[in-house]
Amino acid sequence: MERASSIIPSIPRSAFEPYEKLSPFEIKDKLAQLARESSKKSDLALLNAGRGNPNWVATTPREAFFLLGQFSILECKRVLDMPDIGGMPQAPGIAGRFEQFLAKHHDAPGAGMLTAMVPFAVKKLGFDADAFVHELVDSIIGDNYPVPDRMLVHAEKVVHAYLMWAMCDSRPPKGKFDLFAVEGGTAAMCYTFKSLMQNHILHKGDTIALGVPIFTPYIEIAELNDYEFNVVLVHGTQENGFQYSDAELKKLEDPKVKAFFIVNPGNPSSVATSPEVIKKLDKLVKTKRSDLIILTDDVYGTFVTGFRSLMADLPYNTIGVYSYSKYFGCTGWRLGVIAVHENNIIDDMIRKHPKPITDQLNKRYGSLTLEPAKLKFIDRMVADSRDVCLNHTAGLSLPQQVKNLRDILRFNILGLVSLKRCRQHGEVSRVR
Ligand SMILES: Cc1ncc(COP(=O)(O)O)c(C=O)c1O
Repeated sequence: MERASSIIPSIPRSAFEPYEKLSPFEIKDKLAQLARESSKKSDLALLNAGRGNPNWVATTPREAFFLLGQFSILECKRVLDMPDIGGMPQAPGIAGRFEQFLAKHHDAPGAGMLTAMVPFAVKKLGFDADAFVHELVDSIIGDNYPVPDRMLVHAEKVVHAYLMWAMCDSRPPKGKFDLFAVEGGTAAMCYTFKSLMQNHILHKGDTIALGVPIFTPYIEIAELNDYEFNVVLVHGTQENGFQYSDAELKKLEDPKVKAFFIVNPGNPSSVATSPEVIKKLDKLVKTKRSDLIILTDDVYGTFVTGFRSLMADLPYNTIGVYSYSKYFGCTGWRLGVIAVHENNIIDDMIRKHPKPITDQLNKRYGSLTLEPAKLKFIDRMVADSRDVCLNHTAGLSLPQQVKNLRDILRFNILGLVSLKRCRQHGEVSRVR
């Protein structure tokens, strides 16, 4: 302690005044810069704990990804082989050719995972092998726009199965969730806020509740001139194990509170909302606040044993946000997903809008379908993510969708044990 304080430069308070207007992230960058300079002058190692970036990567899925890429190039050349130019991969017989390729390259890094993956998906998810392998190959090559734009067909089924395990503790609610593949939790937040406003579910100046402490962008977004929300803070104090007390939950009984945004498990607390509090929220929604919209950001859910998101218990009211950044050590890939249950409060609210609003929204989304009034909220989000007019080229990049697909299969069948073991040994430590 003494040693560290002797090397930290003494900085006058006035030097920090210009930073008062900056966000916590910009201040954090400045602090990191100071720490880097100090660590250069000393033999103390610098540990940057101020960033939600894992300090490890999942290697097997990446090996499989690159091997799949090599097979996929062969598939292009099979169709057309000219200098620097290939054809578009074709589905008939592709699963058989993939099997032969893997048998030939059985000792290549990633071959084991790919060999196990196809029969697993066919058996567990009822896929047609050619259709599944063709989706992977065509996507890693990236020669088509994303179709469906919301998420690829097989990718959505795999991610759905994964979320039922990761977010619902393998006890999913009835029915299914519609998924929108997005560029990380970050994009999920932006797209959700934007479409809630565009669809007159939330309005400038509305009252919302934030479960705090919370990932600070949620506080800043609420203050942004686009939203100017009136914010009610629902505190989960350290003394109360970061759980919301009855008095705090009572704030949600006020019908003025249109939506409740939480990060679960919390950032920075890392603590998941307890089953007792979930039960109380469940009761609140079933009795006094059936109209409450819940947005739950569960990007750390996989780090809590037996985690169960609010999307599992309150699927009708909840919009779920999940990201692969943390569990799979892939912040640079920008991979996330928004989950909305097929039977959800937002679609019902849109249906009940008064005629002038319905007319306005029908005009907004009229270029997408002959019956825009029937367009689901999640598809409105996809369209809004590209300002509606560019909907035909919307969607998450296809190689990214392959990455997210294979990671999940890998972890379902091969990786869970090893990752859990890592966690037990504290090796996967720098994830916040
Ligand atoms: C609670 C929470 N939500 C979302 C994000 C953003 O995640 P992504 O990397 O997927 O954009 C973070 C990143 O730290 C986070 O802590």
